[in-house]
Amino acid sequence: MPVADRVEEVRTQAMQLAQSSFTPDELMQKMVKLLHQRMLKYNWVGFYMLEPGAQPPVLVLGAFEGAMTPHTRIPLNQGICGAAASSGQTVVVDDVRKDPRYLACSLETKSEIVVPVFVHGEVVGELDIDSHFPAAFTPEHQELVKHCAALVGKKLEAAGR
Ligand code: SME
Repeated sequence: MPVADRVEEVRTQAMQLAQSSFTPDELMQKMVKLLHQRMLKYNWVGFYMLEPGAQPPVLVLGAFEGAMTPHTRIPLNQGICGAAASSGQTVVVDDVRKDPRYLACSLETKSEIVVPVFVHGEVVGELDIDSHFPAAFTPEHQELVKHCAALVGKKLEAAGR
């Protein structure tokens, strides 16, 4: 199946998951499974959520698929993850070896994308994906991952967050 068709199919499946999941947690669990299983270059997929009330703020590992990571708590001044959460911007890194912010999770990781999750315009967490392939996150992949992060934000809003 060409990658564009795969992206479109997974986009639709993610939307179906958002409709069928009862809670944001259920959606996040199913979303990481879907992306990890169906997208061949998504080798680690996980959510980091801001710990409510933590001062200074810290990202805490939530639902994930892939190898266990040493980074279960990430302050906002560390890593690609901290950069995305503190700026509220998607961060795409084509070659992690060239980015001094990168916190290594697996020696095999070559590229990474981190997309913030917003609730009522505020960052509450993020969707982080690592690939064993360089520059895996082309614009069409960026669009898919942003779509998935937005679905989770909407689900959190619907749940009263
Ligand atoms: N690489 C991330 C850390 C999380 S692991 O990839 C799972 C970062 O630089 O923030």
